[in-house]
Amino acid sequence: MGLKFKTPAKVNLGLHIHGKRRDGFHELETIFQMVSLYDEIELEPLSSGIELECDTPGVPTDDTNLACQAAILLQKFCHIKDRGVGIRLKKKIPFGAGLGGGSGNAAGVLMGLNRLWNLKLKQEKLISLASELGSDVPFFLTSPCALGMGRGEQLTVLKPSSKFQVLLVFPGFPIATSWVFQNLKLKLTKRENNISILRKNIYLSDISALGSQLYNHLEPVVIQRFPEIQVIKNQLQTLGALGVLLSGSGSTVFGIFDNPDKAKVACESLKGDWKRVVTETIGNFSEFCSEEILDYP
Ligand code: C5P
Repeated sequence: MGLKFKTPAKVNLGLHIHGKRRDGFHELETIFQMVSLYDEIELEPLSSGIELECDTPGVPTDDTNLACQAAILLQKFCHIKDRGVGIRLKKKIPFGAGLGGGSGNAAGVLMGLNRLWNLKLKQEKLISLASELGSDVPFFLTSPCALGMGRGEQLTVLKPSSKFQVLLVFPGFPIATSWVFQNLKLKLTKRENNISILRKNIYLSDISALGSQLYNHLEPVVIQRFPEIQVIKNQLQTLGALGVLLSGSGSTVFGIFDNPDKAKVACESLKGDWKRVVTETIGNFSEFCSEEILDYP
């Protein structure tokens, strides 16, 4: 028996950095929201070893890929010696894009192998293993909309707002998260923490007010190094987005809309050689969590 499932992308509707910690990470507050752009993963049981195949050139298929790391971590934690897995990854979510594609893949592999290898690990255990893999990984096991604190791994479930459209624009180059954090100039970007206002607007499903409050502390350092990000932001604003922001550490810029037709027109009207796609917010895991069971001969 094998498994096939989808893992979604996320955007950060707000990201506030409090400061640098002794362990080198940054203490932050962020609002994660899943959106309807998906990678596809197939898990095929093997008698030993972990093998990864990916359809996208440039995506590492060795142990540096978070999906492999998730499988290795589970094998070690559960002392598994007599089972392996073949992971087939179909990427739609660009990597190095601030959309959490790799983190979502890792969370999916943890969940899928828990089932495939019949490990019966509880959700809390999976979440704690996920936090060893990366700050964003636990979110993908938690809820479609959540507040992240600490490194981003301490999560509070938020009730998602009513659905809205998120137009994702990928400028075509990846950005390394570690580079962005290393180059942060916190003193120069001091700003009031508006995360509680964002939470209120999500709760009220006031998309227009939400749009006016979108904020990402990481944005200035990324725009300074990659001015094209500002060009995309300006165009999205002119095309009627209710709010425009860099997602996470970039490089994706997103605009939010409360009308699918307006989002579609904006998507078609953007002038630039950028990959773009209209997605919508995910309100419930059941929207994408239908797992397919595969029979291998
Ligand atoms: O946790 P993750 O491996 O995704 O983090 C990638 C890099 O981003 C870290 O090595 C660190 O440099 C930076 N980071 C940070 N503070 C966070 C999250 C990430 O400094 N809260």
